[in-house]
Amino acid sequence: MEKYMLERDGQIDFYHTFLPRVDPSLDIDEVLADNNDGVINGNLLEFKLHVTDLNAVLFQCIKYLSALRVKGKPVPANILIIDVNAATLWLYRSALYLSDIEKLYSGGASKDNSGFIGGDAETVLHYDRPLDAESIVTLLKECNYTKIHVDENCIVGWATAFYKSVPTARKEDFLGDDTGKHKTIGEIRKPVHFAQYIYPYTGQTNVKFHYLMDKLNDTLQKKNLGAFYTHQLYAEKSLELVRAAVARVPAGNDYIILDRCAGTGNLEAGLTDEELSHCIVSTVEYYEYKVLQELLGAKVRHIIPPIETAETFNAGLVTGADALSKEYIENPIIRQYIDNPECTIILFENPPYAETTSVEHQKKGIGAKSSSWKQSYVVAEMKKEVKGTASNDLGNAFIWSGFKYYLRQPTDSYIVYSPVKYWKAQHLIDKEFLGGFAFNRRHFHTNIDACIMVALWSNKAASIERIALQAFDIDEKDKCFIPCGVLDVRRIYTLYSKVYYDKRTENSDISGAVLLGYDGTPARDGVKTSLKPIYNQNIIGYMVIDGSNFDNPDLMSVLIRCGLYKGHGYYLRSDNYLEKLPMFCASRYITYNRAWTERARIMKSADGAAKYSQFIQNSGGGALNFC
Ligand SMILES: C[S@@+](CC[C@H](N)C(=O)[O-])C[C@H]1O[C@@H](n2cnc3c(N)ncnc32)[C@H](O)[C@@H]1O
Repeated sequence: MEKYMLERDGQIDFYHTFLPRVDPSLDIDEVLADNNDGVINGNLLEFKLHVTDLNAVLFQCIKYLSALRVKGKPVPANILIIDVNAATLWLYRSALYLSDIEKLYSGGASKDNSGFIGGDAETVLHYDRPLDAESIVTLLKECNYTKIHVDENCIVGWATAFYKSVPTARKEDFLGDDTGKHKTIGEIRKPVHFAQYIYPYTGQTNVKFHYLMDKLNDTLQKKNLGAFYTHQLYAEKSLELVRAAVARVPAGNDYIILDRCAGTGNLEAGLTDEELSHCIVSTVEYYEYKVLQELLGAKVRHIIPPIETAETFNAGLVTGADALSKEYIENPIIRQYIDNPECTIILFENPPYAETTSVEHQKKGIGAKSSSWKQSYVVAEMKKEVKGTASNDLGNAFIWSGFKYYLRQPTDSYIVYSPVKYWKAQHLIDKEFLGGFAFNRRHFHTNIDACIMVALWSNKAASIERIALQAFDIDEKDKCFIPCGVLDVRRIYTLYSKVYYDKRTENSDISGAVLLGYDGTPARDGVKTSLKPIYNQNIIGYMVIDGSNFDNPDLMSVLIRCGLYKGHGYYLRSDNYLEKLPMFCASRYITYNRAWTERARIMKSADGAAKYSQFIQNSGGGALNFC
């Protein structure tokens, strides 16, 4: 019998021996796709050099199966534990361990497994015996799976798997229930695609998944709804700002707290019943609306629309609840308060976030035209007043329309979540700042470390140059805040390109020089370009420093030998490079400082250009301004 020093060698030998008999088209990399020792059809395999504690290895396998369930992958019915030096295989059936599989485990699956008590193996096979080897081939061909229960720990994984296997499916096809007027029964309740893998979910409504509704959106909705839910701790913290706004309500006035994009009502969850009785909430996504009804419908003053009718469901959306539509702005339920001078208006919102011109957005192949909100009434109206890229931002459409259509008196307020850019760089609003916090975007169902501001604005005009935000990260393990000090946010006005780009031409410039791509190799023939490339002996490179933020530094800040086909830059010459190079270094700032407090807060500007020029003249060196 072969003796192995390395488990891996025994494992690979096993696969080379058995895979050709099971399915010659199977590739070892496919078998090993899930960070375990392998899955073949309905079998999870775990190899050991020597099995000393079968129960401990069994528990390790259970943890792997738990991970498969969470990822939305079928749970194999067979667990095969293999001792490569003893050529011995133990067969367990995973169905007997379902309750353990449906628990969550953290840390490495191979750690802390002693003490687990399982049952005996169903069969023990020795693969150096021909009959047993044949039985192993038969086992490896089995395609049986242990059905699992769908719960809040695994539903996102199964939703992802569902939309992947049925790309045309909508949220209702996955999540639909028997309540309300629209009765599509979804996959989780009546499994068809996953009939072999999951038990029907028996919850009557989707309220159990209320905090995951954004993650359960189908691909099309993810594109258009830009939904990133607020962490409970952040939602509760921002209630301090809401209460400060309520304290500003003039004596004798009624007030309303309006959230036009409430999702399932996370922001409102911590309000008292009295405060809720002033709330008006709505959301455009149908299944969010149903959960919102269920959780808050009886407590709030109004929900838009107030009741579900046969017309409410419209291709996954709620008729009359699109906050960017004219119909919504004219909604009489809300208008009665806006038109009442004795009512104070407080907006409290975490608007959807989608910036269609961002490089991240473009990279996903979901450019500007794919987003239906761009055709909305509010965006069309905003474009008449707001110029430039600010109107390409869904969040900005909410902020702009909040002030435009809802706030009227100086004592009205807007508590709004958004990256600071709308105030800092885009100057979308010039209002009085009454307080705010900086939160880490990572805790809004994303994996991006960046700064999100929640600010309390009064409706009073004011020109402010800087604001201070108390910053809080979250310790997910202990569910508590990590205070991160006070962050300074300063307004910026001028782009580097406006001031620092050297646009000189010289008589000795020769036109018709080469164009390069981002990687410095010649651009494709016939590529679309806005640059007329030139050559001169004194040209040492071409530099592009786009925009004011630090996103995608590899695309937004470029330094190459000849003209970049995309243009938007300038030629670096032997007489200007020393003065210009700091611009390139500064624009890489985020590459070296990835703290969440920096990204989307610190930006680059040429506002300190006069000081910089002076400094250069005096000392022949210096630093560029960024704040
Ligand atoms: C960032 S989420 C915030 C949800 C919730 N308020 C929270 O903070 O967790 C934005 C919400 O706006 C909804 N939404 C997106 N576009 C909308 C529109 N045009 N009108 C109304 N709601 C919209 C999304 O479905 C999503 O629930």
